[in-house]
Amino acid sequence: MSHELPNALNLRTDKAHSARMYDFYLGGKDNYEADREAAGKVAAAYPGIFVCARENRAFMHRATRVLARDHGIRQWLDIGTGIPTKPNLHEVAQSVAPDARIVYVDNDPIVLVHAQSLLTSSAEGRTAYIRADVNEPDAILQSPELIETLDLTKPVALSLNALMHFVTDAQDAHGIVRRLMGALPREAPSHSATAHRTSTPRPGRKSPTSTTAPEPRYSSATRPPWRTSSPAST
Ligand SMILES: C[S@@+](CC[C@H](N)C(=O)[O-])C[C@H]1O[C@@H](n2cnc3c(N)ncnc32)[C@H](O)[C@@H]1O
Repeated sequence: MSHELPNALNLRTDKAHSARMYDFYLGGKDNYEADREAAGKVAAAYPGIFVCARENRAFMHRATRVLARDHGIRQWLDIGTGIPTKPNLHEVAQSVAPDARIVYVDNDPIVLVHAQSLLTSSAEGRTAYIRADVNEPDAILQSPELIETLDLTKPVALSLNALMHFVTDAQDAHGIVRRLMGALPREAPSHSATAHRTSTPRPGRKSPTSTTAPEPRYSSATRPPWRTSSPAST
């Protein structure tokens, strides 16, 4: 984990990466040839990926707003933050509760390059950025940035949007979520908001745009590889 600077980073722009492919689906500019090429292959097999990306982002906005407005949440731990795309989670949360505090976490160096846009907190609230891997939940929970920003005796929302499909069963996805949720207070109830791709459409619904699953394209072309889950295992 580190907060070192971009000149020490190797962005590996020759290799597609999930954060930059997602940026491409959202119409962003922080992507490179290798990302666009891999994203194009996914889109050819699964044209719905553009809608998926936008709907996923819209879900994050709705979930954040509801947690702040209806459940009184004032603290978020957002892992797998992504390249900043306005409005980011803290902007949504602080539009409801200006004193909201958000810790962002991502392992991609390009997200670190753009982290300044995530540190534009309101005066009353606070934001922090940690470069870390969700596969090391203890490193996240023990990081000074998290300890200085969040009060773990008060409710926290754990936000894992479009992240856990990059964690395999062998990496113990369920154990990681349990470890993270276990560190958040239960009495003052904490929450989690998770968007996760499954391999089947909702009962009674047919995916209108899907031809074949994107998984093989993601798995072979990108860092990190992607896997889908059945709804039951999610
Ligand atoms: C599809 S984007 C989702 C962005 C944002 N959460 C959203 O829903 O709009 C997935 C993000 O997860 C990050 N990511 C993938 N594997 C990760 C890992 N093992 N640890 C931390 N972040 C990871 C990627 O770098 C990328 O920024």
